[in-house]
Amino acid sequence: MLFDTHAHLDQEDFDNDRDEVIARAHDAGVSEIVTIGTSASTSAICVELATRYDGLYAAVGIQPNSVAEAAEGDWNQILILAAQPGVVAIGETGLDRHWDFSPFDLQQDYFDRHLRLSSDRNLPFIVHMRDCDQDILEMLREARQRGPLNGVMHSFTGSTEMAVECVEMGLYISFAGMVTFKKSEELRRVAASIPDDRILIETDSPYLSPHPVRSQRRNEPSNVRHTAICLAEVRGCSLEAFAAQTTANAKRLFLSQSPKP
Ligand code: NI
Repeated sequence: MLFDTHAHLDQEDFDNDRDEVIARAHDAGVSEIVTIGTSASTSAICVELATRYDGLYAAVGIQPNSVAEAAEGDWNQILILAAQPGVVAIGETGLDRHWDFSPFDLQQDYFDRHLRLSSDRNLPFIVHMRDCDQDILEMLREARQRGPLNGVMHSFTGSTEMAVECVEMGLYISFAGMVTFKKSEELRRVAASIPDDRILIETDSPYLSPHPVRSQRRNEPSNVRHTAICLAEVRGCSLEAFAAQTTANAKRLFLSQSPKP
């Protein structure tokens, strides 16, 4: 059994065939999926989807590239959604210096709010990182001073050193389809170094389909199997063992918390 820890099933790419996409995932052995909000409105859709499908869970938050568009009241909406059934995480949050969609200090403000909400509600957080490893580490270290951290570095693209520090701070490291690409030798080396009990896999659907289905314009949760096959090989274990390990890790992170209202 596999667990896709990061998908955006609310997106309109899936409006025509969401039932089939989720059925295909189940047929491919993907028994659990977390669908992730990037704004107040998409988070609300994720929560609604989680009530409708077996094995589907929701994360609620405002993604760093969307924080400039957040309206008055949107953060309050996230606070309300975070207490709904089926919500297993806060995010996605984080920082992004690649796109220039939101002022950086506003991104930092929202990242901080998500980190505090995670600890207040006892729900793990989901971190998006792009071209700002040091800024992310600084804020995580600061949050760590306040108390234990519980969360995941999603679609990890950092160095081995960064992964080691994140694991030491209590975090999980999740790999998406990019790790399967031919040029991603370095990232595969990082993935090989993650402790057995801290590694996760995800599709980040509908983005970046993994090899060998990279030409599929729309990625979907059933494809998490390809990332699992690649990483099992890189880590020198069987697909069955790697699937069992990553699924147990995801369940420990997302499904064994008792959220506080
Ligand atoms: Ni995402």
